[in-house]
Amino acid sequence: MVNIMNYEIKYDTRDNIASLLSENNPKQVELIRKMAHDVLLENCGSGVYYRGLIEFSNRCVSDCYYCGIRRSNADVNRFDLTMDEIVDSALWCAKNGYGSIVLQSGENSSRDFIDFVCRAVETIKKRSISEELPNGLGVTLCIGEQSEADYARLFAAGAHRYLLRIETSNRELFKTIHPEAQSFDNRVECLRRLKRTGFQVGTGVMYGLPGQTYQMLADDILFFKDMDIDMLGMGPYIRHSSTPLKKNENQFIIEGDDLLRVSLLMIAACRLVLKDINIAATTALQTIDPTGREKGLSFGANVVMPQLTPVDYRKSYLLYDNKPCQEDTKEECKNCLSARVGSVGREVHYNEWGDSPHFKRKGESKN
Ligand code: 5AD
Repeated sequence: MVNIMNYEIKYDTRDNIASLLSENNPKQVELIRKMAHDVLLENCGSGVYYRGLIEFSNRCVSDCYYCGIRRSNADVNRFDLTMDEIVDSALWCAKNGYGSIVLQSGENSSRDFIDFVCRAVETIKKRSISEELPNGLGVTLCIGEQSEADYARLFAAGAHRYLLRIETSNRELFKTIHPEAQSFDNRVECLRRLKRTGFQVGTGVMYGLPGQTYQMLADDILFFKDMDIDMLGMGPYIRHSSTPLKKNENQFIIEGDDLLRVSLLMIAACRLVLKDINIAATTALQTIDPTGREKGLSFGANVVMPQLTPVDYRKSYLLYDNKPCQEDTKEECKNCLSARVGSVGREVHYNEWGDSPHFKRKGESKN
């Protein structure tokens, strides 16, 4: 029997985190869940915050071996939402009390692309101002690796949070899932650039990658801590049938039922170690379990991303197989998610940005 007190005292050591992640006694898992829940309440409160997710372009210059919209996947119909489509989706969010949006796309560093995103952010910020949202919508960007000058332009346009997943903090594993041209060091450097620019910075990893071990996942959490990140979006790796990674079938170490358990324990461990950051219960969780997102919330997550991408384009933004919520309208997503949040005794906080308490506290400590 694992002594739960150990986790409380020493959960920032690699071995202790790894042993927490490999826990499979249901009673112990439930104790860990409860501890993570308590730490969440103490540091962030019980509120759940929405970020309306607008996947506005699937064109991508990167060729990640796991991703369905990788550059080399010729089966994908490439699309770009128009400015009006993006702004309309964002304003729908503002009207429905979402408070924040995420603008996500494939990676593209062209001047035209950055200009377009800056214009979209400026327009959204200006047009979403209301009595409920005196500073307009909170805008998170998730558009990949960019130069420091471009990050600064995007920040000046009004975006204030940025998500860039490291995917794995293990250099060797990173190399096995990305082509040579995509470097681990550059990804880390981009996270540093984002911090210097002033963004609230989010990162994250996938779990269940070929060859990935509990020790590596424990190192991921220590990496988040070292990088002093503000937000996390993580999820299970799910095969996409037309990507090269699916061929390494026999190298998966964490899979099947273990994948859900590890997904939830990763959220709990991150909550226990990092305490006051925002953690998303991501859509990928719902792919491996019909109530995966709710379970994510009860293991310590506090952010959910309702789908806003127009239905016709969603089938062209399949990062992995069996991505859920393909047909639901935005109204259906809203109702379905608020019921899901309510089912675990939590409440959506409408008309709030829901910034990372960790980031806010850093700001306070500077004064
Ligand atoms: N399974 C799970 N997550 C994936 N992503 C990309 N492909 C997959 C997959 N096959 C995630 C990556 C990326 C984010 C936008 O989507 O972590 O950073």
